[in-house]
Amino acid sequence: MPNSAGQLRLCALEDIPEGTSKGFTLADRRLFAINQRGKIYLYQNRCPHLGIPLEWQDDEFLDSSKSMIMCANHGALFVIQTGKCVAGPCSGQALIPVAYNLLEGSIFIDQT
Ligand code: FES
Repeated sequence: MPNSAGQLRLCALEDIPEGTSKGFTLADRRLFAINQRGKIYLYQNRCPHLGIPLEWQDDEFLDSSKSMIMCANHGALFVIQTGKCVAGPCSGQALIPVAYNLLEGSIFIDQT
């Protein structure tokens, strides 16, 4: 359901507990979000070097230490705060961030 600004509601903040990640499949977009220390980071779910989704298991986008984003395909590691790849075949490239708004405990994104 769009908000008054025409934005799409992605989920409630509480759907992404601290230290976890969550994937979303919209009509034509795949996204994922991470909650790290109370801040939400939202990216396109697309590895920069092959353009394929990062996860093998639903909602699993983090490495075992929960401190980096990890591509399950080749083990590439990305900084949660910036999306920059620091290890792996796409080193030096970055995930594409997605802008969002927090409103009344929910995450909203533009529809395009
Ligand atoms: S597809 Fe993610 S590092 Fe290759």
